[in-house]
Amino acid sequence: MSDFNDFDDQNYPREDKSQFNELIDRAISRRGFLGLGAAFGVTAFVAASGFPQTAQAKAMSKMMGFDNIPMSTSDTITLPEGYSWNVLASWGDPLFSKGVPFDQKTRGTGASQELAFGDNNDGMSLFQTSETHGVFVVNNEYVNRDIISPTGINTADDVRKGKAGHGLSVFEAKLIDGKWTLQVDAKLNRRITADSPMEITGPAAGNDLLKTAADETGTQSLGTWNNCGNGRTPWGTYLACEENFNGYFASTDEAFDGGDHKKRYGVGNKDWGYNWFKYDERFDISKNPNEPNRAGYIVELDPMDPTSTPKKRTALGRFKHENAELVIAKDGHVVVYLGDDERGEFLYRYVSNDKYVEGDKVNNDKLLNEGTLYVAKFGEADDKLAGKGEWIELTHGKNGLTKEAGFASQAEVLIFARMAGSVVGATTMDRPEWVAANPTKVEAYCALTNNKNRAIKPNAGGDETPVAGPNPRKGNLYGQIVRWTPADEDHAADTFDWDLFVLAGNPAVHQDIRKGSANVTPDNMFNSPDGIIFDKAGRLWIQTDGNYSSKENFAGQGNNQMLCADPATGEIRRFMVGPIACEVTGATWSEDGKTMFVGIQHPGEKAKPSHFPGGGDSVPRSSVIAITKDDGGLIGA
Ligand code: FEO
Ligand code: CA
Ligand code: CA
Repeated sequence: MSDFNDFDDQNYPREDKSQFNELIDRAISRRGFLGLGAAFGVTAFVAASGFPQTAQAKAMSKMMGFDNIPMSTSDTITLPEGYSWNVLASWGDPLFSKGVPFDQKTRGTGASQELAFGDNNDGMSLFQTSETHGVFVVNNEYVNRDIISPTGINTADDVRKGKAGHGLSVFEAKLIDGKWTLQVDAKLNRRITADSPMEITGPAAGNDLLKTAADETGTQSLGTWNNCGNGRTPWGTYLACEENFNGYFASTDEAFDGGDHKKRYGVGNKDWGYNWFKYDERFDISKNPNEPNRAGYIVELDPMDPTSTPKKRTALGRFKHENAELVIAKDGHVVVYLGDDERGEFLYRYVSNDKYVEGDKVNNDKLLNEGTLYVAKFGEADDKLAGKGEWIELTHGKNGLTKEAGFASQAEVLIFARMAGSVVGATTMDRPEWVAANPTKVEAYCALTNNKNRAIKPNAGGDETPVAGPNPRKGNLYGQIVRWTPADEDHAADTFDWDLFVLAGNPAVHQDIRKGSANVTPDNMFNSPDGIIFDKAGRLWIQTDGNYSSKENFAGQGNNQMLCADPATGEIRRFMVGPIACEVTGATWSEDGKTMFVGIQHPGEKAKPSHFPGGGDSVPRSSVIAITKDDGGLIGA
């Protein structure tokens, strides 16, 4: 969701740094985009600027077998010729026969929502068990309060429904007559909500900062919520990523002072309107000040065991997790790339102590508990790291992470990972969203969605956000995708080379750095890349969560969309446009590559006139759609 960051600014406003701005303004006006040169290193690192324009590249890109489609502002899914779509699941669809079909008028109750597909689907994975059967796990990031509870969140049942709209939806599906179809009452169907029992594992488990009145062990929490992107492991588990967990906490004592840690994580005395604290003391920080320390983690779920307790993995740090891109390094260690989606926050990497062993359940259950967390530092144009970067270890006792610096233990380094990142001088980024690793080459990409505060305000910890390195634009409206190649073709190596794969922009409106890189044209332009996901063949799919006004700075860009990129040539083609006011987020494929599942989140948000997917005057509902090629071929090929 694009403007969650604004809520944090309301609880803890930050001042503009206007002097700094003027400096940057002068520098930018002196040099236009492609001539920026050494001052910002932009030219040197925008590999994309050297890519051929779309028309030329067409013949070159052998991996994309469809034509770029025009933008759209229609209230439907638009695809290239020869492709079709259908709905797999929508908010409120019952997963169990004891549930009830979605009620357009009441929009459900707490009880019906607990048995139904949640709201605002985001990251997802299909775990296939045969050619025609599989299990979906889908994040339900949050609820559209105005849609799910149009008269307000005023009762205990409104809150129960809201909590049940969050979490994860797990359901089996079968391929029937060419269509993947949800199986009501299948034995692995399951809802995990903001009230489901969780186990807290890893180095921070049992720490005093995780203990509450209800759990004196600091190892058993309730619920997962605001799960944004996802990940999956080669041992068959699903990773849900807790992002804007802070917006659910409030204080009944207006004078309560949560201190610097809460400020850095945006946990304030006001929530974002969910009202959970009024009916559940867990969310009242004046009564349960440690409860927010129990959220903001990667959660591992075994979808094949419907009785399993999801495990929060503290070793991967606590921040606003976007997704968890897991790769096995060449020597067998597990590497997980992790973005912290907030203006000026950091990009992280985790490396396991032990190696992945196929089929060894006991070994593999420890891989996300025992390991090292790192944070990224990107080189500036004029220092020894120019075009390079390094991963800095976040280990207690190293790199200044001492008791004197405010960290009593490794548990505290992990619980307050953001503050540890600041201590070691990590690079403040333009909102790291999804990371995607190329399955056909040792390289990874991160979508930096936008950052209106770049070179205007510091991050929540007071770290400066200069125009530099992979964040080359002040007040960045459009976003970019940074790419890095680990040293020695080893994801576990501690250094990397980087460049910018694309700078999004609007070449129809701007001629300066805001026009974007050369692989962005008036025909394929977009803003705010967010979900980025590789398919097996190595096509990079780019999903947007941006400004859908199609006006002014965003004129001609239409609704949020999904594009496909060829990593080798840099060519980008628009493949899909979503309905009104939606964001496109989350993707997974059937193993044969013939069906692509895509998340359509919050159509019709902010009272925009969407009736997706039901049409007529129906209530807009977040949905997972299935895309197929009419000739039965591979999607995108
Ligand atoms: Fe939930 Fe950063 O998007
Ligand atoms: Ca986003
Ligand atoms: Ca996102």
